[in-house]
Amino acid sequence: MRLATSSPSETEALGRRLGGRLRAGDVVALLGPLGAGKTVLARGIVEGAGARGTVASPSFVIVREYAGPVRVYHADLYRLERPAEVVELGLDELAAEGILVVEWADRAGGLLPRPAITVVCDFGEGETARTFTVEVPPALADRAADL
Ligand SMILES: Nc1ncnc2c1ncn2[C@@H]1O[C@H](COP(=O)(O)OP(=O)(O)OP(=O)(O)O)[C@@H](O)[C@H]1O
Ligand SMILES: [Mg+2]
Repeated sequence: MRLATSSPSETEALGRRLGGRLRAGDVVALLGPLGAGKTVLARGIVEGAGARGTVASPSFVIVREYAGPVRVYHADLYRLERPAEVVELGLDELAAEGILVVEWADRAGGLLPRPAITVVCDFGEGETARTFTVEVPPALADRAADL
């Protein structure tokens, strides 16, 4: 499924709709180039899941935690040097406890804890145009219904 937005607030709203459907144990892999809108989407997901706190790019801290009815973990693997480091981050345990949202998930080289909802973020035509291609494992199809 491919969705388009034309402003950061629209992207955040898309994230909120998705976040409102996620449950503990769900993993969302965010892919796409620098500035495509992964963090903006993640901010919406955290809000939609009802968690507290303002999401910023976790540039030096690799994983941030947001408390709420369901805990949300926001990881950014941009600075990961080897895929194996992802194992040391303990993402498996985090994903077992809450919702895990991972930017630059491709840097984990397939070592993410479980089948993920994948969102490929990209630029569209025009400065504030973005596209979001959502792929959902069959067992999680309800998470992306009517997004
Ligand atoms: N439709 C849109 N959706 C999301 N962001 C947009 C949109 N239009 C413009 N922007 C701008 O694009 C930038 C997206 O930044 P963001 O930090 O979310 O990207 P990112 O994919 O997380 O990049 P990085 O790989 O550096 O983490 C922000 O400055 C935002 O204001
Ligand atoms: Mg980011």
